[in-house]
Amino acid sequence: MKSKVDLISLDDAINLNKKEVRSLYKSYVNPGFAALLGMLDFDKKFVRAEGVSVWDEEEAEYLDFLGGFGALNFGHNHPKINAAVERVANLPNLLQVSLGTLTAALGHNLAQITPGNLSRTFFCNSGAEAVEGALKLAKAASKKKKVVYCERSFHGKTMGALSVTGKNKYQAPFQPLVPCCEPVPFGDTSALEMKLKEGDIAAFILEPIQGEGGVNVPPRGYLSEVRKLCSKYDTYLIVDEIQTGFGRTGSVFACDYEEVVPDIMCVGKSLGGGVMPLAAFTTTEHIWDRAFGGFERCQIHTSTFGGNARAMAAGIAAIQVMLEEDLASQAKEKGEYLLNGLRMLQEKYPSFIKEVRGRGLLIGVEFNPLSKGFINKITGGRLNKIAEEYFAALVAAELMNNYHIITAYTLNNPNVIRFEPPLIISREQLDRLLSALEEIFKTSQSMWGLVLASGKRVISSLTS
Ligand SMILES: Cc1ncc(COP(=O)(O)O)c(C=O)c1O
Repeated sequence: MKSKVDLISLDDAINLNKKEVRSLYKSYVNPGFAALLGMLDFDKKFVRAEGVSVWDEEEAEYLDFLGGFGALNFGHNHPKINAAVERVANLPNLLQVSLGTLTAALGHNLAQITPGNLSRTFFCNSGAEAVEGALKLAKAASKKKKVVYCERSFHGKTMGALSVTGKNKYQAPFQPLVPCCEPVPFGDTSALEMKLKEGDIAAFILEPIQGEGGVNVPPRGYLSEVRKLCSKYDTYLIVDEIQTGFGRTGSVFACDYEEVVPDIMCVGKSLGGGVMPLAAFTTTEHIWDRAFGGFERCQIHTSTFGGNARAMAAGIAAIQVMLEEDLASQAKEKGEYLLNGLRMLQEKYPSFIKEVRGRGLLIGVEFNPLSKGFINKITGGRLNKIAEEYFAALVAAELMNNYHIITAYTLNNPNVIRFEPPLIISREQLDRLLSALEEIFKTSQSMWGLVLASGKRVISSLTS
């Protein structure tokens, strides 16, 4: 501890202004991230959130089309989910030597909504942790060494999850990663079969629709074919539904779309109702028992906060709300509406939009590659690089600053802007996005026009 301690109280913390937050972030949290958000004018201070809306200090309303990267299917601060967490405030939140009452109930409820015979669940705190557990489970149950994953996949940033995340930028600084993890192209069953034939493969891990890879939807029938191949070569199929789960893609889980039953499924994000960090992997009785059955092995994989009462209460309420409000059908119907609207924009502005893709309310818009431009000279190529690599971020900055619409690019493919709003969003709110995009394309006329308009603040931050 420092010799003189100067603490910020919770009340003072809540009242910090934007400048103070930025300065504290620079000194104590992540200066690079603070600079990036500042450059795009994204570092606003938001003081209230409800449903699809958040409000800044001046009471200006913003629409959240980012939806917590898929963690806010129910919207911000859903009253039933907040109430559930408050309802258990006096229970012991953690008591690892007893069986958690709410853990038992959430395990049961999850088994009611997951596909086929998935029934045994391990609860943890983050998506990456769920993926780690799933990989360990597959290895321990199969007694095999290798794991196959997809190029452009995203499964998290801890060592095991990163080892099956197909993005060199994230992997490179941390080599060597976990050994025996091998990539195959997404959507390619022949490449998968060649790999599975090699043998000794514990699991194939797959997102049913790649989220961070740029919202990549596989060819129809891919998932069912993958299921057949994994069964044929005695390899466990791990489906990562962390981003696609809980109604997001128009069915409760994206693998329901092709009625595929994985051997192991990872869930997270919206499982915690957008208020508690909560994730899990779930599997069959048979696989669980092979890996973790009996006194000897029942504790070889644990997590201190796994199954804590508040997270469990949020999970129980989240599943209930999802079914009561039929959020999967809402996502399907509204997703089709938004996809149609975006495809109409693509027809009208083909010089901007290369492709519109997605299912339900997991939608990506890929922009055309940017032609080389004259700004290169002024900024020594740096703006060019930013515009080329992060064009979608410039569109996101326009949407945020001029239209009060919050979006972001996808992590593994920064030329794709994602729309992943809470599933409770209204038609009128979807129309606000469509008109904003139309106005941006119309007024900037060309991609370089947009770079110049939105890039003014970027240029000044690069040349100052
Ligand atoms: C499909 C998928 N898996 C895993 C993760 C990692 O989740 P977390 O950030 O909670 O560790 C993500 C996060 O975006 C994801 O989209």
